[in-house]
Amino acid sequence: MTDYKKRYKTLATNLVHAGSPHPNIEGAIATPIFQSANYLMSDENTYEAVRYIRLNNTPNHHVLHNKLAAIESGEAAHVTSSGMAAISATILTFVNAGDHILAQNTLYGGAQNFLDEDAAGFGFSYDNVPAGPGADVSAWEKAINKNTKMFYVESISNPLMEVGDLRAVVEFAKAHNLISVIDNTFATAVNFRPLEIGFDLVVHSATKYLCGHSDIVAGAVIGSEENIAKINHKLLHLGGSLDPHACFLLERGMKTLALRIERQNSNAQRIAEFFAQHDAIRKVNYPGLTDDPSHKNAKSVMSGYGGMLSFYTKDSATAERFLNSVTIPKHAASLGGVETLVVQPSRSTHMGIPVEERERLGLTDDLVRVSVGIEDVDELLEDFKQALE
Ligand SMILES: Cc1ncc(COP(=O)(O)O)c(C=O)c1O
Repeated sequence: MTDYKKRYKTLATNLVHAGSPHPNIEGAIATPIFQSANYLMSDENTYEAVRYIRLNNTPNHHVLHNKLAAIESGEAAHVTSSGMAAISATILTFVNAGDHILAQNTLYGGAQNFLDEDAAGFGFSYDNVPAGPGADVSAWEKAINKNTKMFYVESISNPLMEVGDLRAVVEFAKAHNLISVIDNTFATAVNFRPLEIGFDLVVHSATKYLCGHSDIVAGAVIGSEENIAKINHKLLHLGGSLDPHACFLLERGMKTLALRIERQNSNAQRIAEFFAQHDAIRKVNYPGLTDDPSHKNAKSVMSGYGGMLSFYTKDSATAERFLNSVTIPKHAASLGGVETLVVQPSRSTHMGIPVEERERLGLTDDLVRVSVGIEDVDELLEDFKQALE
């Protein structure tokens, strides 16, 4: 019998095998769905050990926790009911009333909305600071105060695909005794493992690449045993657990993550190069382009540049025409699935940010974001070409 806590040498092997088979699944190769809310009591001596879906402790959860920790080089991991549940539970575990957060200034809209609309109610404050390419550490020094507890960033920011000097974030956090948290949804562990360069916690919207098939909403947080136990305890109260059926789909999706990301990296690189030379496009944001301002930072920590890119068209009418003319990609929000998606962030993911703030950040109506799928890249390029004519 294989030890379900065993870790393999490589990420691709861990994606397939780590975490399974769980001792309670009778040797089944695919983890069966344990669709039972509660279980017979045995010899549990802590509340966390009482088996119940909200406590995220069924075999479906345990398998995922081991697999996620193995691929992100963490000691422990926890799944949650969504990416936002992972983000909010992580923040609320370490940031109390009176505390303060430093947060990158171009975050996923939902994370930014949580700070904008909920921080005051919970009694904590935050400052958004530039943390993309060329960001000046003196701005961080200026924003920090004696109550600052956390530095929160994204590995590749949404939707401008900025990659900051992530080693500098770790160094700054350590020097000021801050817990460093990074949303690694866009890069995934295949391209970048933040814990290996010293981040304390990694969060994911597992809805995206980890699942990869656009059929569940889920989240994850990975880090040290001690930090994950604290987050788990907070989650028991907040209630953001993942249903076993969604666990099953997430585990199934994760097995092919390495293959999908390899294809999405190479498709996105070709597509970014195509857009970069097209007359109807003003500017492409993709860290894999050698002249992109984020390229140097990305190259220093990542082995691939991911499947997400965005570009500015000549004007917003061109952006709208493009969205209405593509025939293979779907016009939809979310990202990270096998299918290519196109969307205007200003009218979807980032619509909750006030318009003046959006414009200041460059989230204008002529910006289009592409989540590149695993389709045949030449067929996609042909479609993009006709959509821009
Ligand atoms: C980078 C990033 N983080 C977090 C989230 C939130 O994830 P979820 O929708 O699973 O709550 C998203 C959603 O789009 C995202 O793009």
